[in-house]
Amino acid sequence: MKVLVTGANGQLGTDLCQSLQHFQLIPLTHSDIEITNMNSVKQVFGKYKPDTIINTAAYVRVDDCETEQDKAFQVNALGARNAAVAAQELGAKLIHISTDYVFGGEAEPRTIPYTEFDTPVPISIYGKSKLAGEDFVRHLCQKHFIIRSSGLFGAAGASGKGGNFVETILKLAQERHQLKVVNNQIFSPTYSKDLATKITQLITTEYYGIFHITNRGSCSWYEFAKEILKQAGLKTPIIPITSDQYLQKAKRPSFSVLDNYHLRLLGLDDMRPWQEALKDYMISKGYIK
Ligand SMILES: NC(=O)c1ccc[n+]([C@@H]2O[C@H](COP(=O)([O-])OP(=O)(O)OC[C@H]3O[C@@H](n4cnc5c(N)ncnc54)[C@H](OP(=O)(O)O)[C@@H]3O)[C@@H](O)[C@H]2O)c1
Repeated sequence: MKVLVTGANGQLGTDLCQSLQHFQLIPLTHSDIEITNMNSVKQVFGKYKPDTIINTAAYVRVDDCETEQDKAFQVNALGARNAAVAAQELGAKLIHISTDYVFGGEAEPRTIPYTEFDTPVPISIYGKSKLAGEDFVRHLCQKHFIIRSSGLFGAAGASGKGGNFVETILKLAQERHQLKVVNNQIFSPTYSKDLATKITQLITTEYYGIFHITNRGSCSWYEFAKEILKQAGLKTPIIPITSDQYLQKAKRPSFSVLDNYHLRLLGLDDMRPWQEALKDYMISKGYIK
């Protein structure tokens, strides 16, 4: 099987390229393909003729999407459209990566994890642009998998965000006397290596559709930060704050926990708890033994 990956040097792309090594792999970076340009996408896909395309290319800076709305829709929506049209022309499978931030905009606050059968209501430009990308993929490419995940941390760090939350917390804990972290946004932290492994398993199947893939369990950013420091053996005090006290341009869902329901229905949900995944990450980085 020939697998083409866009955003191959991104956080998820890097882990995907590791876990896809037993396939014929075509790893493409932003300098190899411009996802917002239909001609570029068609020409590159046409050159390699992959059986399977994994599109991780995205504009992931959630706050900047609020002020750079055109860029958000160009990359996250039209980019997905271009990938879907070009994949369909080749008869290839398209795996498109999306986010928990397509949820969270309902009037009633949610407390039950979202399944793939819940209707998304995004509250940010990022979420809206990612949902628009999903819609293009669903309508334009027959053999599609839409993979929603959340709170990714991986060895490469999100290139679009300049790192990941784990690294930010470890760095700040060593620079500051105390940390203040938001305690009223609940989600499932997910190790991009675990996500990559599950995607690698799914692409050999014909189980098309939407999949939620996160590590097991959920927490707030505050609880995540506390666990990071605990595992690292750092004693820097952390104070829980609310999102009102930490002003960000984009609104975030107060609850965006994804239920890996589709995987579970198929007997494929063996995702480990996020704390175990975090430990594995910390070991792989040499922070703990
Ligand atoms: N990070 C998270 O917490 C999170 C959570 C849920 C879902 N996701 C989704 O997971 C996917 C991967 O995220 P990530 O954390 O791996 O982000 P990332 O590290 O920023 O990777 C995104 C990749 O896309 C490339 N890219 C950006 N614009 C492009 C364009 N116009 N044409 C071609 N390539 C372009 C980037 O290359 P350059 O940097 O060179 O431009 C980068 O390699 C995204 O779809 C994101 O929405 C992420």
